[in-house]
Amino acid sequence: MKAAKDAKAPDINIRPKTLNDFFGQEKVKGKLRTFLAAAKKRNEPLEHLLFYGPPGLGKTTLAHVIANEMESEIRVTSGPAIERAGDLASILTNLKDRDILFIDEVHRLSKIVEETLYPAMEEYHLDIVLGKGPSARTVRLDLPRFTIIGATTRIGMLSSPLRDRFGAIHHIDYYSSAEVEMILVRSAAILGMKFDKAVARELSKTSRGTPRVANRLLRRIRDYSEVHAKGQLTLEVVKKALEMLEVDKAGLDKADRRILEAIIKKHAGGPVGIESIAATISEDIETLRDVHEPYLLQLGFLKRTSRGRMATLLAYEHLSIPIPKKVKDQQELF
Ligand SMILES: Nc1ncnc2c1ncn2[C@@H]1O[C@H](COP(=O)(O)OP(=O)(O)O)[C@@H](O)[C@H]1O
Ligand SMILES: [Mg+2]
Repeated sequence: MKAAKDAKAPDINIRPKTLNDFFGQEKVKGKLRTFLAAAKKRNEPLEHLLFYGPPGLGKTTLAHVIANEMESEIRVTSGPAIERAGDLASILTNLKDRDILFIDEVHRLSKIVEETLYPAMEEYHLDIVLGKGPSARTVRLDLPRFTIIGATTRIGMLSSPLRDRFGAIHHIDYYSSAEVEMILVRSAAILGMKFDKAVARELSKTSRGTPRVANRLLRRIRDYSEVHAKGQLTLEVVKKALEMLEVDKAGLDKADRRILEAIIKKHAGGPVGIESIAATISEDIETLRDVHEPYLLQLGFLKRTSRGRMATLLAYEHLSIPIPKKVKDQQELF
């Protein structure tokens, strides 16, 4: 059973299982280590935790790592999967003391499910309404002392009552290239790949500070080298592979470049609304906002203003597009 599952989802082997194997995010890990030690010492469940940040940075992994470190069982669900209050009740009543319930995309819980969750998070009980109309009555169910770990890419979409019920909120941010390099070296060792420091450095710069991207690039590069270079992973081979994958030296992919080009060429550099950009390049707005935009902002290629998104002068330079005088003057105003 386990072997079959691993073969289908090879990432499970690469996914770190302990805090020591989870590289980077030092501040978050420092706080988590304290919470974990305190909870263990008092033999209490961990406080409810919320992780937020762009996709692929390790929110789900961290939830599993915590369960492992607490020697707790973890149940995985997501905001949109819990459709009714009854679904939530059945999940919660099936938990045991100190179990962890991981709720991915926690910003997508419906209002009614969210409200049912409040007393469960605060006091470990559920108020269930039985029947309808005048004969309806509320029954209180006691729950085990569990921990919720929520994850979201959109912290701004979480209601404040829900946010307030988490004991700690952690921002999971992009990794430095040194950290990505450590992750790459570890993953490569697990995959049985050999390459030198120069290759690791090259890949770390093109991984968008994102472990998921780093691991994906690693596999694509392995494929390329097996087919075109007898499995050799020299810097030259890796550069060629990146070229074939259309990943440039800043780690931008085709979609990222199309976004910047759309703003520059079709909207005179902006400011332009995200909806217009999405329409121009026929890309889904969620992907644009969750995946592409945060990284372009992080690199300083994109700026968010009250009137919309603007391509920065850096973006023009990166794409080797001459900067019109009007744009230069305008940028100085912002
Ligand atoms: N800090 C880390 N160290 C090593 N590998 C990591 C780290 N964070 C994430 N990964 C790898 O990246 C992949 C994506 O992480 P994941 O937890 O699914 O991200 P998220 O839930 O934030 O979208 C994981 O499968 C794991 O292999
Ligand atoms: Mg996830």
